[in-house]
Amino acid sequence: MIRFAIFASGSGSNAENIICYFDNHKNIKPALVISNKPNAYVSKRAEMMNIPYLYIPSSDFKNNPSNVLEQLESYNIRFIVLAGFLVLIPAELISHYRNKIINIHPALLPAYGGKGMYGDRVHKAVIDAGETQSGISIHYVNEVYDAGKLIFQTTCPVSKHDTPETLAEKVHELEYIHYPAVIEQTIRETFNLQ
Ligand code: GRF
Repeated sequence: MIRFAIFASGSGSNAENIICYFDNHKNIKPALVISNKPNAYVSKRAEMMNIPYLYIPSSDFKNNPSNVLEQLESYNIRFIVLAGFLVLIPAELISHYRNKIINIHPALLPAYGGKGMYGDRVHKAVIDAGETQSGISIHYVNEVYDAGKLIFQTTCPVSKHDTPETLAEKVHELEYIHYPAVIEQTIRETFNLQ
């Protein structure tokens, strides 16, 4: 069984969708949810879905990455999925989980990515630039925000009536449809599962 962790800072609707997708999966299991925010709604979702949850403060990611690593190892975590996680992943974790950490970004990278580009800021920038398309990008995580190798992208139209909120809804729809399947496929390839 390949056990993976989900890192999320906020609501965690993707986390919930991913956990549902892998319910009763034969050889892949979401085994831990981690948040850097003590009261993030994702903690409630994890509790409701009976998945172990840990709060690890942002300062530990920055100053004490060994603690994060120890926690992951104590849960036998082999792969990490970021879903709305707003803290830079420390180099120690990246080298330990080389090509085993993936993220979803709510726009078409390499545009509209990087430090400070998250949530509605991304959608606002896309609309302000007059783009006619946005979408999702799923990519490996390396030491630089949103700069790891792309795994999957798909698009949605941006209309001139869209607001950051309506565009976020369209993007979330794409995330719910595609992220779990891309996670499954990436884990299968990484660990040579049938
Ligand atoms: C998603 O749009 C994801 O792409 C971005 O943060 C958002 C998280 O939403 N990185 P939720 O917490 O899963 O609802």
